[in-house]
Amino acid sequence: MRRLLWLVLVVLILGFSREFSHMRRSAGIFDKVCRCTESLSLHVTVLDDSVFRFHFLVGAVAQADRKWLYSLASFTGPQALKVEDDGDILVLETQTHIAEIDSESCSVTVLDREETPLWQSATPLKLTAEGRLFLGLKLREGERIFGLGEKTGALDRRGRRYEMWNRDAVAYGVNDDPLYQSHPFYLSLADGRAIGSFLANTRRSYFDVGKAENDVLGISVDGGDMDLFFFGGPTPGRVLEQYTRLTGRAPLPPKWTLGYHQCRWSYPSAKRVREIAKGFRDRKMPADGLWLDIDYMRGFRDFTWNYDRFPDPKGLMSELEAQGFKTTAIIDPGIKHDPGGQYSAYDEGVIGKHFIKYPDGSDVIREVWPGKSVFPDFSARSTREWWGALIGRFLEYGLRGIWVDMNEIATFDKEFPMEAVFDGEGVPTDYREIKNIYGSLMARATYEGMLAKFPNRRPFVLTRAAFSGISRFAAVWLGDTKSAWDRLRLMPTMFQGMSLSGVSFIGSDVGGFIPGAVSPEMYARWFELGAFSPFFRSHVASGMPDQEPWSFGAEVEADAKRLLELRYRMLPYWYTVFDEFGRSGMPIIRPLWFDHPSDLESFRHEDEFFVGAALLVAPVLSTKALERRVYLPQGLFYDFFTGVAHSGPVTLRVPAPQGSVPLFVKAGSVIPQGATIQFVGDPSESTDLFLDVFPSAAGTAVSSEIYEDDGETLNYKKGDFSRLPVVVATTGKQVSVEVGKRRGKFQPRHRQLVIRIHGVETSPSTVTVDGASVAGGYSSDKRILSAAIKDDGGAHRVIANYGALRWARPRKVALRFKVELPEGTPDGDVYLASSAREWVPDGLKLKRVGAVATGTLKVNEGQLVKVRVTRGTWESAAEDPLASTIADWGLSGTKSVNLRVHSWSDF
Ligand code: GLC
Repeated sequence: MRRLLWLVLVVLILGFSREFSHMRRSAGIFDKVCRCTESLSLHVTVLDDSVFRFHFLVGAVAQADRKWLYSLASFTGPQALKVEDDGDILVLETQTHIAEIDSESCSVTVLDREETPLWQSATPLKLTAEGRLFLGLKLREGERIFGLGEKTGALDRRGRRYEMWNRDAVAYGVNDDPLYQSHPFYLSLADGRAIGSFLANTRRSYFDVGKAENDVLGISVDGGDMDLFFFGGPTPGRVLEQYTRLTGRAPLPPKWTLGYHQCRWSYPSAKRVREIAKGFRDRKMPADGLWLDIDYMRGFRDFTWNYDRFPDPKGLMSELEAQGFKTTAIIDPGIKHDPGGQYSAYDEGVIGKHFIKYPDGSDVIREVWPGKSVFPDFSARSTREWWGALIGRFLEYGLRGIWVDMNEIATFDKEFPMEAVFDGEGVPTDYREIKNIYGSLMARATYEGMLAKFPNRRPFVLTRAAFSGISRFAAVWLGDTKSAWDRLRLMPTMFQGMSLSGVSFIGSDVGGFIPGAVSPEMYARWFELGAFSPFFRSHVASGMPDQEPWSFGAEVEADAKRLLELRYRMLPYWYTVFDEFGRSGMPIIRPLWFDHPSDLESFRHEDEFFVGAALLVAPVLSTKALERRVYLPQGLFYDFFTGVAHSGPVTLRVPAPQGSVPLFVKAGSVIPQGATIQFVGDPSESTDLFLDVFPSAAGTAVSSEIYEDDGETLNYKKGDFSRLPVVVATTGKQVSVEVGKRRGKFQPRHRQLVIRIHGVETSPSTVTVDGASVAGGYSSDKRILSAAIKDDGGAHRVIANYGALRWARPRKVALRFKVELPEGTPDGDVYLASSAREWVPDGLKLKRVGAVATGTLKVNEGQLVKVRVTRGTWESAAEDPLASTIADWGLSGTKSVNLRVHSWSDF
């Protein structure tokens, strides 16, 4: 038997080495130029086993190699490469892919090792009548195309044509294109297998995704080269890893930026900013960021202050800082054209030759906020350095973030001229090449200036315009959205589209930006989405009513407060997901199918998404909803609030009145949570970290990791971080949670790790911590088993043993109401209208005895319920409380609710 095994092994080894006998070991980067016709050539590069570059050139001279677009530094070539070249066909074979290049036509096919074509030219490169380079790629049957950045409409881009041309897309409609950013990168999926491709050219380009021809993806570009990278996946995550390896990954943002931000255009004075800050702290509504829009400036001049309204910006910011607020200010690219105006940013810019010029050397002047303005040429290194220094000086006022806007470049009069000259880091070019990357270069100059000023503090930049690779420098938001339900509905899909394009630090203006039509309900729903957006900020246009979370009455305020508290408790989870994004490019917001590409139904539910791998969010995006349908993909999921277990694939109807967001957790996940804090670094922060464990399906084990560091500095790059590995393993009779040895030097402030096992109906027979039995810890009410372990950096294990383990099933809660009626209430019946009874005014008839009415409402455990007392009709409803939240998340059993009516609206 043994001898037989040896024989098999030898045969296998021989076979393998024959297969790869022609392969060059650890081949280094392979490079070859195929000259296909007089005017057309193709430069092929094999960067690693599954990343190829196909750089099509018209003529022999390539466009300038733009260092700001990508870096090849981390590619060392394929592990092994077999090259066959008979003069006509060049075949390049790596361990995972085969590329065939026809050197007569420059047509390319990339196949996998099973010889399935994955990426294949449909037509040779050609010059169109409009003078554009055009390449057609074959679309395979059932192939879905995702990504392409900031696009409206369905996540699968097939059937539409998209333009890459950054534009001030104020109040964009549901089908508008292009918007503010350009990301000429797509990720495709067919038969559960993912590939990706990136056009490394910043000029205006078009992606016709099977519109002109059903089975052709047509890529065209106005000048420059058709410089395409191919990423072989094979999973969506691997494609994004490969793409972000090329275009750059996101550094960890300061932790406070994951908290809540409050903005408006504009808080007009220091006094108002103080009021807003007090508004949060008085109400105990957690928040970190306060924002200053353009009116803090003197006549919209960047880097200046209007001292009448902001007499002591430094004092203001240090006062805010003491209350736990960080201030971010807006900066626009348009510098006021102000000769003789003693405006130093203008004067310095003139002296340093930093402003964009026409070919004849005169300044390009355009109207924008300050009136006539000039614009820095961020494609010049010296200009970026000058700008960085201005930013650095401006930070001295105490600013912690810089918001760069209008960088498409947006103008109020004429479009910016195409012939405008740019330095291009010494390889001069014009606006045609720079427009799409201008916003990114501005964000970069700002980021680098911040870092130069405070070398050990993480910069925070938010930008509106951007190009592929922006994650290295800035977070982004989706621009000037209208307050409308159809716009709110766009947001989750756009978040996913951006995340699938490598941009995960993303958000939208909570409440919508214009035109002030936001209702309390719409604000509340947008806020709910905001609480699960990576970037979470309320913002509204000038002249519009207030959009603070307390501006819409008591009900919205209470809902917003609860959501803010939840967001802040969940920050350890968010932070861990951000770390993963920064390290590997794995998106923060993921479509349902991301980890379930073979679950075809999951493609149809673009209004749900995952945050990280664990948390499924199903936001409510329509008016008057009391519930929503939630699709859970294949696998076991738990209701985040109740621990009730559901086996997917399944569609649930989940009660979701205003104020609630259906949330589910994938089995085996650990959601690290902290205490309810008011801001990041709140000294009242508890010293415990909660590890909310949702057991893996029986017979499986799931590993994950929890990331922590100081949240502020760059010390994490020198090993000052903490990674706690956790393995959750479940059998029919046991849930075990193993916390591994801490990796990294960072010692978090908490002393205890509190493991909370959710979702198990049965009380455990025994619980052990590191082998020793511990008592109690199980609340049958909430169905949570808690056990604390010391956070000493060592490995620990909690095991819960059960006679037989049963998953948590839905339970009902009886809400027992007792309502006191005011004196003079007419005889007759009294009712309870409630979100749990379709909001009909006579939803539940109460039993009235004199001035007291009682009744019981049975609702699902954990359900948020809102009620209002009536005498049968809305006209005769109690004036107060208008609608009160009386049952909250995590309840079970019976709850008594006492209400008191003070007056009737018809009396
Ligand atoms: C742009 C921005 C918006 C900002 C306004 C004033 O419209 O997109 O967010 O409030 O300019 O600076």
